[in-house]
Amino acid sequence: MSGRGAAAQAPEPAAPSWERLALASGLPRLEARVLLERASGHRREWLIAHGDEAADARAAEAFAELARRRRDGEPVAYLTGTREFLGREFEVSPDVLIPRPETELLVQTALERAARGARVLDLGTGSGAIAISLACERDDLRVVATDRSTQALAVARRNAQRLAGEALASGRLQLRQGNWWEAVDAQERFDLVASNPPYVEAGDPHLAQGDLRFEPIQALVAGPDGLAALRAIVAGTGRHLLRGGWLLLEHGFDQGEALRALLADAGFASIATLCDAAALPRVTFARKPE
Ligand SMILES: C[S@@+](CC[C@H](N)C(=O)[O-])C[C@H]1O[C@@H](n2cnc3c(N)ncnc32)[C@H](O)[C@@H]1O
Repeated sequence: MSGRGAAAQAPEPAAPSWERLALASGLPRLEARVLLERASGHRREWLIAHGDEAADARAAEAFAELARRRRDGEPVAYLTGTREFLGREFEVSPDVLIPRPETELLVQTALERAARGARVLDLGTGSGAIAISLACERDDLRVVATDRSTQALAVARRNAQRLAGEALASGRLQLRQGNWWEAVDAQERFDLVASNPPYVEAGDPHLAQGDLRFEPIQALVAGPDGLAALRAIVAGTGRHLLRGGWLLLEHGFDQGEALRALLADAGFASIATLCDAAALPRVTFARKPE
């Protein structure tokens, strides 16, 4: 034997485990897990139980791409295509605002104020989070949801079909396209109007930071002072709200005073502002006098 025969083959490098993939991504643990779930199709419990096993190559590749996009700032909700709102899973895409926990306060307040059988209007429905939650929580409510964006309405329709299919099929939940009050018939009247409209000032530096960079600008910005959409909604509510009916509006933490003044000027009564979980003024409601 010459001693120069077949060299020993180097062993194949072992595929990284699920746990290793998550750690090496450089993402916070929870985010990495959520994206691993998405990339692998395995549930979180499975990934925890099998964390030290080798990840399959296709899932590892898909996860690497999601992790890269996340490191570049894309919101987790757009990467997974879902966001939980009041215990329900909503589809989201870059065509809609990602529903925020603050908006749950608006829905809870609407549920407290809506009388049995009330007709409710959600202006600027986006993913449908407000309107669909109301229709699901209370089967006595009749809910109309509008948006100017046809792309947003397509997302809202898919959410409505999945989460409130019967309400949509029966017409108890309606989706309509249009610019604020143009989506509503001249003769239509409601017991309660709720809206989380755009309320960020054009040029606000926050628009260039975090998740906001990826969300639709028309869902965020409302003129130079951020109040244009709130003004348009308040202006039309007098006509379409029944006497004794409620208007509920989400707004920026520093817009409560201006909004209360707008509502008082428009003749509303019982005007009050509620704070969100961060103790910031977030939802203002008002009643049309009897
Ligand atoms: C802040 S997002 C709220 C979305 C959803 N209601 C939520 O709370 O997650 C505002 C929504 O208002 C819609 N919108 C903006 N301008 C509008 C207009 N002039 N008429 C109707 N909808 C409008 C946007 O397309 C967007 O879906």
